[in-house]
This record gives sequence, C-alpha cells and structure tokens, in this order.
Amino acid sequence: TPLYAVFGNPIAHSKSPQIHQMFAAQEGVSVRYERRLSQPDAFARDIAAFFAGGGAGANVTLPFKIQAAELAHETSPRARAAGAANTLIRLSDGLILADNTDGIGLVSDITQNLGFPLAGKRILILGAGGAVRGVLQPLLDENPAEIVIANRTHEKAQALARQFGIAAEQTDRLKNGFDLIVNGTSGSLGGQVPAVPAAVYAGCALAYDMAYGDTATAFQTAAALAGAAHTAGGLGMLVCQAAASYRLWRGFAPDTAPVVAALGKAV
Ligand code: ATR
Repeated sequence: TPLYAVFGNPIAHSKSPQIHQMFAAQEGVSVRYERRLSQPDAFARDIAAFFAGGGAGANVTLPFKIQAAELAHETSPRARAAGAANTLIRLSDGLILADNTDGIGLVSDITQNLGFPLAGKRILILGAGGAVRGVLQPLLDENPAEIVIANRTHEKAQALARQFGIAAEQTDRLKNGFDLIVNGTSGSLGGQVPAVPAAVYAGCALAYDMAYGDTATAFQTAAALAGAAHTAGGLGMLVCQAAASYRLWRGFAPDTAPVVAALGKAV
C-alpha cells in the first residue's frame, strides 16, 4: 500500500487525510495517508527518513513550506516563483522534487468549481505574505486583464508587484472596478478583515477568501455586506490543491466537487 503523509505544526486538525482517502476511493485503490507533526530543526531529517522508509509523496503545510522548497533536489518553476513548496514527489532515481499546487488549487476552484473564468478579468489581491506569493504566478497564467495587489504594509505589496510585474496600490486608495477580490491575509479566521474602502466591493462578482471556517469568514461577511455578488471560502482551494498533488503522485485526476460537498462546510 503506497504511503503518503502531510507534514506540519500543528497538524492534528488537517483535513488532508480525509480528502486524500476520498480521492483514493474515486481511483479505486487503497493508500495510506498520515499526519506527521514535525519541528523546524527536525523537518529536513523527518522528510529524508520518510522517503528513505518508502514514502511515495508528501504534502507540506505551515510552517514548513519554505524549508520544503529548499531541501528538495529539484524545484518546479512555480515552486521557485512561490519560494515555497506544498508537495514533495519522489522521482524514479530517488531524488525529491518540490512543487507547489496552492496556486493552481485556487485557480481551479474559481474557474472550474465556481465557474468563474479569469481571462480578461480585473483581480485585486489583499495581502502580501507567503500565501499570496504562492498563488500569483498561476493567477497570471490565466491571462487576467489586470492584477492589483494591496497590503497593510505597502512596501511588501510593492516588492511582490515588482517581482511579478503587477501593480501595487495603497489599501486606502483602492477604488471599485474589480471582478474578483481575493483575500490572502492571515487575519480573517480571527475576525480581522483588511481595511479597504467598502466601495471597493461594489460590482465585484466574486470575493474569495483563501481562509475557510465552518461558516462564512469575516471577509466573506464584510464583502457580501458591501455589495460583492458572490463570496467563497478557501475549502475548495484546499481540496483542489490536494487533487493537484494527488495527480502529480499518481497520475489520476480526482473529481473535486463531490469532495468539497462531502466535507459539508460553508464554501
Ligand atoms: P501567510 O503565510 O499566511 O501569508 P504571512 O506571510 O505572515 O502569512 O502574511 C500575512 C499577511 O496577512 C500579510 O500580508 C499581513 O499584512 P502585513 O504585511 O501588513 O503584516 C496580512 N495581515 C495579517 N493580519 C492582518 C490584519 N489584521 N489586517 C490586514 N492584514 C493583515
């Protein structure tokens, strides 16, 4: 039985084992998928031991995504652009390839599950941390008309804007006109919503929070109140990034919609 695992800290509440078991059921195979708690100074050793012991592939979550990209023998272009990896793949020669499926997870949830094509659209990204860096290249690959990034600490938005060739704007100067607004800040689950003028949400077709909870997030609630036509939380992104990892490991592309539905939470 092939062995997979997700490494993180904390890890006890990870939904990844449940998600990947549903994918395996779709493929009609049996796999093991375990949670592994690690520590920053032990992570590289833990990964080496996992693959030496026959592990077929690993997911990596906070706070190890940057280390995961650094320890791999090879790194995909999108993991390099993200500076982080969420997927480790054992190559046939035993070497480890680091990839990052977070961005395509976001894109496929929005374009396929939510039915919202991104080509020609105006996109606003809120936040400029690791989560945002991980999704910018796959969003750009969809050929939007424009991506604007805004962050509480403007200098961090400017740095990402330079790296990816997009525009940065100060949060208090943002105007409306965006088709899609993505919240990539880390405060949403604690009820913190990025401070942007309410008018920014007017006419917005979709406000998407990369965070998710059992109910709508604070960002979803605020965006709906301010006029966003639809909102979504990040559970679909979680399932879609997992599906992309599964496909990289096994060559089987799971159907994500029934898995999102089975998890049974507000999206
Ligand atoms: P992650 O890996 O989740 O992206 P991070 O790299 O620490 O975490 O980045 C957190 C992001 O959320 C940053 O853009 C941060 O803004 P600052 O750069 O100004 O710190 C943003 N953030 C966190 N809490 C926030 C809040 N209450 N309001 C607005 N932005 C917030």
